Amino acid sequence: MNLDQKKLAQSMRPMTEFDLLPIMQIENEAYQFPWTQGIMSDCLNSDYYCYVYSIDNEIQGYIIFNVVLDELHLLNICIDPAIQNKGYGHLLLNWLIDFAHSKHIKTLYLEVRSSNHPAIHLYETSGFNEVGCRPNYYPAKKGKEDALLFAYELL
Ligand SMILES: CC(C)(COP(=O)(O)OP(=O)(O)OC[C@H]1O[C@@H](n2cnc3c(N)ncnc32)[C@H](O)[C@@H]1OP(=O)(O)O)[C@@H](O)C(=O)NCCC(=O)NCCS
Repeated sequence: MNLDQKKLAQSMRPMTEFDLLPIMQIENEAYQFPWTQGIMSDCLNSDYYCYVYSIDNEIQGYIIFNVVLDELHLLNICIDPAIQNKGYGHLLLNWLIDFAHSKHIKTLYLEVRSSNHPAIHLYETSGFNEVGCRPNYYPAKKGKEDALLFAYELL
């Protein structure tokens, strides 16, 4: 683990209801089709894992996932658009992979819009492999958009 990765790990904490307002601001800026506050709140009140990356009490990003037996499903990973493309996405994903190791997870799964090139690039350069496609899975501006299914195998 390098220094930046260590710093990020120290700045990760579980999400609370009080984080929903700043999180929804980031979510609405970052996504064309953002989750609603209701969905976020449901995640918090379920057994999903919801963590924020927070520096000086300001949320910089967040990650939401669930674990079923030895599989981890990444549901949302988001970095504040103001600090995107500076390496934080990679650090957050590495934090998730470290978490998965510590819980003896075998496989990480995620779905991504086929047009989300920054995210696809992040997953591919982090060791994820494309393992499937769900045609017309997401609503899009015009019609529907495919979901690409990615997996990461932990040894
Ligand atoms: C996807 C996301 C989490 C990546 O976070 P990030 O902090 O910007 O990513 P990083 O800076 O760590 O960059 C990771 C790689 O993607 C590339 N990248 C990041 N933003 C990019 C952009 N807008 N266009 C092209 N490439 C981009 C970086 O150059 C880097 O490539 P490299 O490893 O070859 O240098 C972030 O863009 C985001 O929050 N997007 C909105 C939410 C979202 O789409 N989440 C994914 C849902 S499946």
